Amino acid sequence: MRLACVLLLCASWGRMRYLPMRSDLERVLFDEPAIHKRLDELAAQISNDYRDRELTVIAVLTGSLMFMADLLRRIPLPLKLDCRGVVSYHGKPQTSGQVIFKLTTVSPSGGGQVALPDVAGRDVLILDDIPDSGHTLAAIREKLDGATPRSIRVCVLLSKKKPRARHVDADYVGFEIEDEFVVGYGLDFMERYRNLPYIGVLMKELLEHC
Ligand code: IMP
Ligand code: MG
Repeated sequence: MRLACVLLLCASWGRMRYLPMRSDLERVLFDEPAIHKRLDELAAQISNDYRDRELTVIAVLTGSLMFMADLLRRIPLPLKLDCRGVVSYHGKPQTSGQVIFKLTTVSPSGGGQVALPDVAGRDVLILDDIPDSGHTLAAIREKLDGATPRSIRVCVLLSKKKPRARHVDADYVGFEIEDEFVVGYGLDFMERYRNLPYIGVLMKELLEHC
């Protein structure tokens, strides 16, 4: 009986902790156990596909931060990791179409330039949270293609069932979802909700105020 009360209290606390953000969601799509189960499967598939190779992982931040951390800890292969900060939404719920690489290096001459890792001859795996128009992934692929890697594959946490302005060929997909605006587990709306441990659909009224 006491154990049942403790379990009930823990469950309510779990829900309450995120209440201010949870109440902005229409519904939860994928809870923590569902995400972790799918990551186990994805990691097993990737580990098997690259078992005799050394990967270079390029993670597109900030949205893929949680995904990257949880997925890579499940892949027991030697790999190199590079993180790219990219923005395409600029505070709006739709893409601007203009992709900006945030992490730049400043050359000795003082001009800013996008620093790319040396991927020549390497097997590259791009990790992203969710393509929308496809502009972000297409821009990253174009940059990397020019650096003559041995192979490039794309792994996304989520993929929306919708036509895209730019074609995106994702080799690994966590979950297919309807064309709805989702937040949590790294994904944001106006930089909020990234720290939710689950993924949910944001209430449409909140998007309309934007
Ligand atoms: P794209 O350049 O239009 O493909 O935009 C891709 C980026 O838009 C993703 O990396 C996300 O940061 C963001 N994005 C797309 N759909 C959603 C969503 O439903 N919720 C939160 N961010 C999204
Ligand atoms: Mg974003």
